[in-house]
Amino acid sequence: MPDLHLLVALLLPASAATLWYLGKFTTNQVFPPGPRPLPVLGNILDLTTKELWLRAHEWAKQYGSITYVHIFGQDVLFLNDANMAAELLDRRGATYSGKPRLVMVGEMCGCEKMIPFTTYNDAFRRRRKLMQMTLGPRNIQNYHSGMEAETKTFLRSIVSDPSNYLRHIRRYAGGLTLSVVYGYKALSSNDPYLLLAEECMTLLSNEMAPGPGIWPVDIFPILRYFPKWLPGGTFKVKAAKWKQRMEEFIEKPWAHAKASMMSGTILPSFCSTFLEKGHLPPEEEEDVKYSANSMYAASADTTITTISHLILAMMYYPECFKKAREEIEEVVGKSRLPNFNDRASLPYLECILNETWRWGCPVPLNLPHLVTEDDIFQGKTVRKGALVIANIWAILRDEAIYPDASTFRPERFMEDISPEKMKQRDPRNYIFGFGRRRCPGADLVDSSIWLLLATMVAVIDISKPVNSDGTEFEPEIEFDNFVFRTPKAFQFRVRMRSNLLEDA
Ligand code: HEM
Repeated sequence: MPDLHLLVALLLPASAATLWYLGKFTTNQVFPPGPRPLPVLGNILDLTTKELWLRAHEWAKQYGSITYVHIFGQDVLFLNDANMAAELLDRRGATYSGKPRLVMVGEMCGCEKMIPFTTYNDAFRRRRKLMQMTLGPRNIQNYHSGMEAETKTFLRSIVSDPSNYLRHIRRYAGGLTLSVVYGYKALSSNDPYLLLAEECMTLLSNEMAPGPGIWPVDIFPILRYFPKWLPGGTFKVKAAKWKQRMEEFIEKPWAHAKASMMSGTILPSFCSTFLEKGHLPPEEEEDVKYSANSMYAASADTTITTISHLILAMMYYPECFKKAREEIEEVVGKSRLPNFNDRASLPYLECILNETWRWGCPVPLNLPHLVTEDDIFQGKTVRKGALVIANIWAILRDEAIYPDASTFRPERFMEDISPEKMKQRDPRNYIFGFGRRRCPGADLVDSSIWLLLATMVAVIDISKPVNSDGTEFEPEIEFDNFVFRTPKAFQFRVRMRSNLLEDA
């Protein structure tokens, strides 16, 4: 959380804050344990913008699996245990699926209608239904040929130009979603819609939602009406600038989809499914436009992070990938690329995918869910308005579910344990979030990443980088994004080991 936030908050009249604080905390409710808060400020100084999931995991060891903190009286609960997350976010989903009012990101920067920021209301339910209709397991095969084309483009690019691998991943992730969602084919990594998405997602995850995504104006909405020249008022200038970019991000690809529907050039996609019905009533048009933008926005960094983890795993655990390659060669042979029909016959590859999801953990802290009614959990108070954040990282490192959790060990998914335990081990139960807000892109991305992994294993080798004298060295791996567990650009070597992509 930037110092600016603190400064603005501290400028607020101390008397009002004290009165408010006394009113809020002189209750005899019992909250779950957590680090000791400061008066009024709460636990703001206990938070960190870097890998907050690690700190929350430490709190879990100290205070127990459910940890309570507050920031200026805003209750925040971290759930560090799979059963707790299932109990509250799945089984009590009617009460635990709301979203907070975010004045800064939502109202001032123009993101309030994006699905991850929309509260659990009728518009939200209509939009989720639209996404489930087009991204459910039965529809995924409609996108197989697009996945195959993007996979081949990506692998050719990464082999010919590995130092720009992040650009190629971005092109892959954005290109796939642009075609699945808007029916648009991006032809290069400089495509204007890809660049716009990259800029807006960087703004959203690193600028608009710094720290826990809470700005002083979220806690004291009246700040919105203070002049921008007051100390700390620059957030208003930033918001106006960012809002303009976010509006372009929402409107431009949608306008393009409508135009290409008229000209008959749109590819079969989420948008074409609705646009081919002809003129859409205004409410349905809004629903389709915002669902499309939400999918486009939500898919980019998550996919980029996952592919970065695939590369890291291939570099650090060559023996696992050798085993997977041998399996592919035995089942598929060497004369063709693996395809979706092979998936059921490649069990070890499936274990590698499971372990990469678990080990990589692309979204370590689930998006906050807002509690919409007072509740009691294990004798402790959970107040209406509290934010509940599942610590997916802690769950995927839970030794009770994944013994020797810090090791990359695909074999854990082949162990002879009860079907219930094996079901509990499936990382897809956690990495895509929970309950009524679980990621609607889960089936799509599980397929696209499977194909990418299978093709990578079949045709390329990845290894550690070498110095100018030819000796291997350990690349520096650093995670510095607040929302995603995206490694900063790192070095590696890549080699094409097959000619299967040449004429494909
Ligand atoms: C590696 C890939 C991905 C991961 C790990 C991932 C993970 C997540 C997580 C953890 C959430 C929050 C769920 C919750 O609040 O409980 C989420 C929400 C969401 N995801 Fe994904 N996601 C991925 C890819 C995608 C893709 C490809 C799409 C669309 C095509 C997508 C669309 C969405 C949307 C629209 C939401 C908001 C759902 C809501 O608030 O109701 N995601 N995702």
